[in-house]
Amino acid sequence: MSITTKFNRVKMGLESIRYSRGKLEVLDQLLLPLQTKYIKVDGVEDGWKVINKMQVRGAPAIAIVGCLSLARELLDDNSSDKKVMRQEIEGKLNYLVSARPTAVNIKLAAEELINLSNRLSADELVTPEEFKEVFIASIENMLTRDIQDNKAIGQHGCDAILRNLEGDGQVRVLTHCNTGSLATAGYGTALGVIRSLHAAKRLEHVYCTETRPYNQGARLTAYELVHEKIPATLIVDSMVAALMHARSISCVIVGADRVAANGDTANKVGTYQIAIVAKYHNVPFYVAAPFTSVDASVASGERIKIEERPDTEMTFIGDKRIAAPGINCWNPAFDITPACLITGIITEKGVFAPDKLKDLLFQ
Ligand code: MRU
Repeated sequence: MSITTKFNRVKMGLESIRYSRGKLEVLDQLLLPLQTKYIKVDGVEDGWKVINKMQVRGAPAIAIVGCLSLARELLDDNSSDKKVMRQEIEGKLNYLVSARPTAVNIKLAAEELINLSNRLSADELVTPEEFKEVFIASIENMLTRDIQDNKAIGQHGCDAILRNLEGDGQVRVLTHCNTGSLATAGYGTALGVIRSLHAAKRLEHVYCTETRPYNQGARLTAYELVHEKIPATLIVDSMVAALMHARSISCVIVGADRVAANGDTANKVGTYQIAIVAKYHNVPFYVAAPFTSVDASVASGERIKIEERPDTEMTFIGDKRIAAPGINCWNPAFDITPACLITGIITEKGVFAPDKLKDLLFQ
């Protein structure tokens, strides 16, 4: 039985990553929602490409697929020299990190794995075969860990939101981008909290933004919500203020690509303006993210590198040009929401005010 199938017995939604030892496939998210097609990932080169082209995306999924592509490649490696293995592992992990620069999960996972390979290489009692086995097993463990973390995030988020809920006891949520099963090993982060609220029968409605220019909301989140039969409505990004004015929104829940030590958060472009609008309308604004998205080495959001994507993501939808030829474009994939706009950061360890994150990181 594949590792992912084992976990999908628990209701977690769509399967974006299919893995069993020696075989890795990812659901091509460029083709969703119209086509469901899995792409084979046979090694690090394929891993880098599917991440860079955004056939797989979402901070946790990027890290897991990148590392699993290395596990897949190592399986065919018959090297008997641990020092060579260690060197190659480091080079390949650094290469994978370069595929997309903002999400920190893959960088932190790479650092952890490089440390592990240093230890295994230095330990004279470890044979090359044992090195390979321990290393691959440690990567495979990321799938389980991510799902466990997401379920804990879902529960903590659901409890905190219900505890602070005012009004009629039913929750109306706004979310941005895609943070569900497609963006993780399963269950999702912000969408995991929404899933938990739905399971608790306290979710009245979800509003999801279209999320231009890549349309993760319209194509992927809407797809997951319809698939899960969660009551939901799609809005375009410029409708957020109108929505908060017209309907009583209980809270906003979004994901994160990197959380700085002071709680500033990088997430899909558009998140910052939603946080500003939420503050104006007194709507609590939550960020749901595992600690694998928290970068203790970065003091504030100012220091987070923001990925800029090709103009064609803005000027074309599929094969169809929608913008006037010759126009200049600016296409940052993420923006920074300052900690002062964030009500709480929902993690697998509980829900924290952004300024409390530091105490946890450096205790
Ligand atoms: O460019 P993307 O689609 O990779 O951006 C994804 C997001 O911004 C998500 O909110 C974030 O990665 C968290 S996914 C659980």
